[in-house]
Amino acid sequence: MQFKNTLDFAKELDAEDKLSSYRDQFIFPQHEGENVIYFTGNSLGLQPKSAKKYVDEIMTDWANLAVEGHFYAEKPWWDYHERFSAKLAKVVGAKPAEVTVMNTLTVNLHLLMVSFYRPKGKRYKIICEEKAFPSDQYMISSQVRFHGYDPEGAIVEIKRHEGENNFRTEDILAKIKEVGEECALVLIGGVNYYTGQVLEMETITKAGHEIGAFVGWDLAHAAGNIELNLSEWNVDFAAWCSYKYMNSGPGNASGCFINEKYHNQKDIPRFEGWWGHSKERRFLMEPEFQPENGADAWQISNAPVLALAPYLASLEMFEEVGMPALIEKRNKIVAYLEFVLHEIDKEVDSTFEIITPAKQEERGTQLSVFLHGEGRELFNYLMKNGVITDWREPNVIRLAPVPFYCSFEDMFQFGQILKKGILEKSK
Ligand SMILES: Cc1ncc(COP(=O)(O)O)c(C=O)c1O
Repeated sequence: MQFKNTLDFAKELDAEDKLSSYRDQFIFPQHEGENVIYFTGNSLGLQPKSAKKYVDEIMTDWANLAVEGHFYAEKPWWDYHERFSAKLAKVVGAKPAEVTVMNTLTVNLHLLMVSFYRPKGKRYKIICEEKAFPSDQYMISSQVRFHGYDPEGAIVEIKRHEGENNFRTEDILAKIKEVGEECALVLIGGVNYYTGQVLEMETITKAGHEIGAFVGWDLAHAAGNIELNLSEWNVDFAAWCSYKYMNSGPGNASGCFINEKYHNQKDIPRFEGWWGHSKERRFLMEPEFQPENGADAWQISNAPVLALAPYLASLEMFEEVGMPALIEKRNKIVAYLEFVLHEIDKEVDSTFEIITPAKQEERGTQLSVFLHGEGRELFNYLMKNGVITDWREPNVIRLAPVPFYCSFEDMFQFGQILKKGILEKSK
């Protein structure tokens, strides 16, 4: 499609957009009486209007039923978390029994490492990407130290080439081969938080298995953003947060995937609690743990239903729309944003550079823009003028036009504000 950087054209795209009505189902912060242009759904998704109703329902049940709400609430609390599996399984390409919701992301990665990082003999190394999200770095390093190893030798980082922004699959595969039987675990971010690069998860998972390692993925930036087929790719485990593309609210619960081949396997250890105990027998308060079927066996505590409520509200929307429709719009709106950026680049003397891969299959919703020489001042200008984006050191703004609620007109208007900001700076 031949794009045009005009308001009329952007409006035409909005008129053709099958998801345009969903914009009205989210609450936007306001700037001078108008919706902001919201680019940070990769950090914290907007609040679905339905979220409050789901939370209120629990508050009302709590007020009216108190402890009896566990069994007699509109949506009983004792099995509240079970409402997620089937719907989330569609989002991440898994079987319902392979998916559960609990805790938060870093906590879950730690718990999953109890099961899948069990260094033994010479097989003790973890392969991850350089400059992984800091929480992942701390998590991996502390796990390695917990097992008595020095992170220096036990953590092997995949590097980018000098002067390049993105990882090359061949380098990842070569590193996996090189570490070989010393590798206990490959654990990488499926979508890089800084650049938005989507890694070839299926190929990398296969390579990890070929050397006898477990392969897990941090899908914080992938869930609700890109097509995932975790079962088909034979991924061992994965976890993601829900407050980004899944619009569940600040700091909210994490989803986990545990491949069915590990369910009910006695030689896969895990930290256990009563919510992972067989649900038929949970309240018999037996001394011996009997695991629930599937990923639910990894549950530990009773579910924080007030937190889960907005997640469920949001998930209903994913169920209604489906990932294919979101991805179709995502591809178009990201391509349009990229086009607008290039047009503005031609119109003004700017020096920004899109560091996200240009190929559609190597990126999701996020475009990361390196502001050579423009920097923080321009970021501040955008924020002051109703564009919510975020800043990542040393000089990057990340733009994520979330298909659920961003419009093509937003992309056009953003281009105009960006242009003004660059012109004003050069005065
Ligand atoms: C890639 C990645 N990993 C881990 C985290 C940490 O998530 P949490 O604070 O929910 O543990 C984040 C948070 O933004 C993230 O983006």
